[in-house]
Amino acid sequence: MKVLGVLGSPHKTGGSASLLLAALKGAEFVGAKTELVSVYDGEITPCKGCIQDEEPDCKFPCVFEDYGKELLLKIREADGLIFSTPIYWFAPSGKLKLLIDRMTCLENMVAFGEPSYVEGKVFGAIAVGADAGGPWVGGYLITTLTCMGAIIPPWGIAYSHKGDDAIHDDKALLDAINVGLLVAKMIKVIKGEKEDLTFLDDKKLMQKIREEILKELERS
Ligand SMILES: Cc1cc2nc3c(=O)[nH]c(=O)nc-3n(C[C@H](O)[C@H](O)[C@H](O)COP(=O)(O)O)c2cc1C
Repeated sequence: MKVLGVLGSPHKTGGSASLLLAALKGAEFVGAKTELVSVYDGEITPCKGCIQDEEPDCKFPCVFEDYGKELLLKIREADGLIFSTPIYWFAPSGKLKLLIDRMTCLENMVAFGEPSYVEGKVFGAIAVGADAGGPWVGGYLITTLTCMGAIIPPWGIAYSHKGDDAIHDDKALLDAINVGLLVAKMIKVIKGEKEDLTFLDDKKLMQKIREEILKELERS
């Protein structure tokens, strides 16, 4: 069971990164293998909209040979996806939006007689701002991914308005851990295992994960 965390922030130790690390630890807690990638670690060419061409090239893995394609390949392989983005003017970061647009080639496989390559993947969303927009941006991500064929688990969204101090936002941290937990548990359910899909209200686990993340962030 592979869960891919996609960081939409330029800050590797910021609020979105902290809550993404928490979600991935939640996923690991129920046995997932996790990987964290950042959309800021390479060039992502903007989608050129070839889905509208007469003979559309819009099929996986996209016509562009760039870092965006590397991320699309990782997305294709993952059972679960967690996107964590800073809120930039009530929207995800522009760099994450570039990747989302490029994901059209995964979804557009339906035009080639195949299912969407996002279909059946489990998706969770995290948004971090310093002011407002969390549910809006998290909601945008969830709406978009379900329209690509992803499955949203219960408790599949977390947000904080505490900016780069989101790790100290108890509610958001516990929610983020549960995003990871529930993404992984939902994958198990899809694979035929019996799992409860209950929110885990475990403050001790939350504090342990917070301390681990703070140590990791100090080292980086
Ligand atoms: C271009 C830009 C637009 C922003 N717009 C919003 C906003 O609409 N709502 C909000 O709550 N915070 C907004 N912020 C603040 C960031 O979301 C905040 O600094 C957040 O901590 C960034 O996440 P990070 O720490 O993971 O990088 C904005 C920041 C920037 C740079």
